[in-house]
Amino acid sequence: MNAFLGIDIGTSGTKTLAIDPTGKILADSMKTYPCHVPKPLWSEQDPEDWWQATIASVREVVDKAGLKPEDVKAIGLSGQMHGSVFLNKKNEVVRRAILWNDQRTAAECDEIEQRAGGRKKLIKMVANPAMTGFTAPKILWLRNNEPKNFDKTAKVLLPKDEIRRRLTGEFATEVSDASGMLLLDVAKRKWSKKLLEALDLDIDLFATVYESEEVTGKLTAEVAETLGLTTDCVVVGGAGDCAAGAVGNGIVNKGVLSTSIGTSGVMFVHSDDVKIDPKGRVHTFCHAVRGKWHMMGVNLSAGGSLQWFRNELCKADVDVAEKTGQEIYDILTDEASQAPAGSDGLFFLPYLSGERTPHADPDARGCFVGLTLAHRRAHMLRAIMEGVTYSMRDSLEIIEDLGVPVKQIRASGGGSRSPFWRQIQADVFGRTVVTINTEEGPAYGVALLAAVGAGEYKNIQEACAATIRVEKETTTDRKAKKRYDKAFPIYQQLYQSLKRDFKAIAALER
Ligand code: XUL
Repeated sequence: MNAFLGIDIGTSGTKTLAIDPTGKILADSMKTYPCHVPKPLWSEQDPEDWWQATIASVREVVDKAGLKPEDVKAIGLSGQMHGSVFLNKKNEVVRRAILWNDQRTAAECDEIEQRAGGRKKLIKMVANPAMTGFTAPKILWLRNNEPKNFDKTAKVLLPKDEIRRRLTGEFATEVSDASGMLLLDVAKRKWSKKLLEALDLDIDLFATVYESEEVTGKLTAEVAETLGLTTDCVVVGGAGDCAAGAVGNGIVNKGVLSTSIGTSGVMFVHSDDVKIDPKGRVHTFCHAVRGKWHMMGVNLSAGGSLQWFRNELCKADVDVAEKTGQEIYDILTDEASQAPAGSDGLFFLPYLSGERTPHADPDARGCFVGLTLAHRRAHMLRAIMEGVTYSMRDSLEIIEDLGVPVKQIRASGGGSRSPFWRQIQADVFGRTVVTINTEEGPAYGVALLAAVGAGEYKNIQEACAATIRVEKETTTDRKAKKRYDKAFPIYQQLYQSLKRDFKAIAALER
């Protein structure tokens, strides 16, 4: 039997799954690891943890699916984007990797803009403005703050590409993830020599760039043995988790947009040509579809906001859920559904890690606004879900204003598994929201890319058409929509009213 693996190096864990040529999932496995927060708004992980989770999850999947070593023809890699793995000449990590949701690089973003000759010129070179989460500012941060570590650095890799190096021995990346480094000429799909020069960074620091379904190498003998696979197994480019998740949702043609609520929230739309937001609020990156692009808005704390509330304020419920075998998020969304649409005037701004879209403000802070004695925890839970969904509506409106058509919205990610949160999306967006037959996200998307790379399908559009179909629809409730349409401008105004205070609060912490 031919099988294809998808491996997603996420922020909370690594998920691996195997599919057969029809796209049927044969087995999956998730292995978690910690995220280190050495200072407020810093975020780091140890690449060795990703590697151990990769080995354990691949072995479990191969075992559970009963695959013979020669069955697995190809692997696709996906991962959290923008993270920086700094390697020395011996390929040892120089320090822990700095992640996508780390906000330490505000000064380096200014430095990049200035070295590029201004924000407009920068956007011309790499299609996007400098954002604290992106990779290039992290490299400059290392040079400015840990010069000894910078001097030791011989290669800078993205998280999934570090796993690729360990699997195949190759330094390779692909266009979708490389776009988020802020060093790729997104229109031409190759490193921007102009920007590298302006930043005084050597092109040799970076990996070779491929298209997403291209073969980038084969498993080394040692790794094949460890994983129970063969050295004929190829590893394709894969994709950053946003593009990979979009492929897993079948977002490979014009007019289809996906919403994804994981730790971060992502609004992702396919585009046949390069469209750039001159204000730089949404990102324009290469798509995992050969020769195509995508735009996306990213909210840094989406599901992450609810997870924070669960961890900090619902400990007793977590204990009960563990004892009774219930899913804690089912308990919490049930509770949220007891509050009415609009949460009786309670608003939540989901800026717990600063924000990216639409505000690009590392100093933004999370808050509840409008609390009264009448509010219960149910209101707070619902307000979190509504606040996250408003932040996604911000992106949707920007995308449509730029003239990118949105004919269908597909909901995905852990948060969208909840029918209640899907209903909030349909009501806040004022549009029908659909879901598809798979809920597997990025790992599924790159397993499909692996199938294309191994020759099972002609291209990724064909693979998606053969495996993905719309299954459920959530339609808008007119009354709730009316309520949200009135509340949304207030939500938008709250950031404007508070942004100076956020800056003052952030300054207190420095
Ligand atoms: C995308 C982004 C996040 C991470 C999360 O730009 O920063 O979605 O990729 O894994």
